[in-house]
Amino acid sequence: MALWGGRFSADPVDAVFALSRSVHFDWRLAPYDIRSSMAHLSVLESSSLISKDDAASIRTALKQLSVEVHNGSFTAAANDEDVHSALERGLTQKLGAVGGALRAGRSRNDQVTTDLRLFTIDHMLEIASLLTQLNSAVLDKASEYINDSAPGFTHIQHAQPVSFAHEIAKHAQAFSRDLDRINDWFKRASVSSLGAGALAGSSLPLDPAFTAKNLGFDSVFANSIDAVSDRDYVAEALFIFATIGVHLSRIGEEWTLWASTEFAWAQVADEYSTGSSIMPQKKNPDMAELARGKSGRLIGNLVSVLTMLKGLPFAYNRDLQEDKEPLFDSIDTLLLVLPAVTGMVATTNFDREKMALAAPMGFSLATEIADYLVRKNIPFASAHDAAGKCVSICESSGRQLHQLTDLEFSAVHSSLDGGVREVLTVAGALSSRTTSGGTAPVLVAQQIKVAQANTQSQAKKIADKQVAFSEMMGA
Ligand code: ARG
Repeated sequence: MALWGGRFSADPVDAVFALSRSVHFDWRLAPYDIRSSMAHLSVLESSSLISKDDAASIRTALKQLSVEVHNGSFTAAANDEDVHSALERGLTQKLGAVGGALRAGRSRNDQVTTDLRLFTIDHMLEIASLLTQLNSAVLDKASEYINDSAPGFTHIQHAQPVSFAHEIAKHAQAFSRDLDRINDWFKRASVSSLGAGALAGSSLPLDPAFTAKNLGFDSVFANSIDAVSDRDYVAEALFIFATIGVHLSRIGEEWTLWASTEFAWAQVADEYSTGSSIMPQKKNPDMAELARGKSGRLIGNLVSVLTMLKGLPFAYNRDLQEDKEPLFDSIDTLLLVLPAVTGMVATTNFDREKMALAAPMGFSLATEIADYLVRKNIPFASAHDAAGKCVSICESSGRQLHQLTDLEFSAVHSSLDGGVREVLTVAGALSSRTTSGGTAPVLVAQQIKVAQANTQSQAKKIADKQVAFSEMMGA
């Protein structure tokens, strides 16, 4: 059913209708559209723009429609253009002409962005909740390996040994920043646009502050032109999703590498792995690869929306209809990827012996020699040079650093003596890294504890918001 037509002498041709139509993807806004209609109805009723009787029957019909949308007995028809027109058809079928009363003082321009804000807040909360679950899994996994050493890398070359828990727990910091970003996003997303009308506000005695409160928004628009035009909350949400995607891709890359035969550190659980149709021996870390691969579309969706918004004149333009599919796709993608990665992380076991054996390889303890000399007041540049010479002797004689003789040490530098061997152990190197946030196991254990407590309080905040949101939706 078209929401216009009075001034037209012909219906749109099929190609125009086909291009205009959005109901096949915006139908998922239906519950939010019905809820914002309820709020609008209350305002129209309280300012006597709709009689008490009509308001009561519209309210009943909206509630029925809500149930029917939920159980699938009311769906979009082939000739419905978008979710708003489909639901108005539903109301009109139940109530006759009164079904069109809700259009007073409201345009699809303020309606669609109000619905989309509600939808995005709801789904942002779901994603935030899944992120806290992933973070808990990461931190729990990390806590299993506090006293296990592994090589730490720069340039994917052995750099310095680290506690493997430190290596795993770093991901929790990245996801915790994502949660902070989400928290901050609410300030700009939780703004009601209802009452902005087509662009200029309304001559009817509406009460945008009332509808904002009724719908659980934190604030109300300040400029009606901006209100119907602003999609920053979509772009920002997509940026957050893309960043989460990038973080997931980095976990994916590590897991894929660590599960390779060359590393053989990670044993990914069978239920989080896949096989090959031709090579019977294969066990592939597909979840890790998909976590890495899906980041592409998450970044693409952000770029799509930013490109659509660039140079767009203010107030509503139909281009804005293109905000939804990228947003929906990013949300759907994360709803798929997050639980799979959480499960993969929780069920992966690491080969402690293999990692410990690899930890000192590649002369990763060379910095210890330099630091030993610095503690004897040797300038770092000279100390670095001396440590480098030790590596060179070891390389040409096929030995490890601790195997150099006292004589060889002192020949390299007069202040270097056999005492250096005490720091040439992985355990010694790890426990000496005591600057805050460093890899000393005692500090890593503390770091994990703090991060676990933060994750719990983030999870609690999200759960509280989810309760408030579902109460609002059910009101
Ligand atoms: N389906 C449209 C959208 O998603 C709704 C708003 C249409 N408004 C208009 N004036 N044509 O943006």
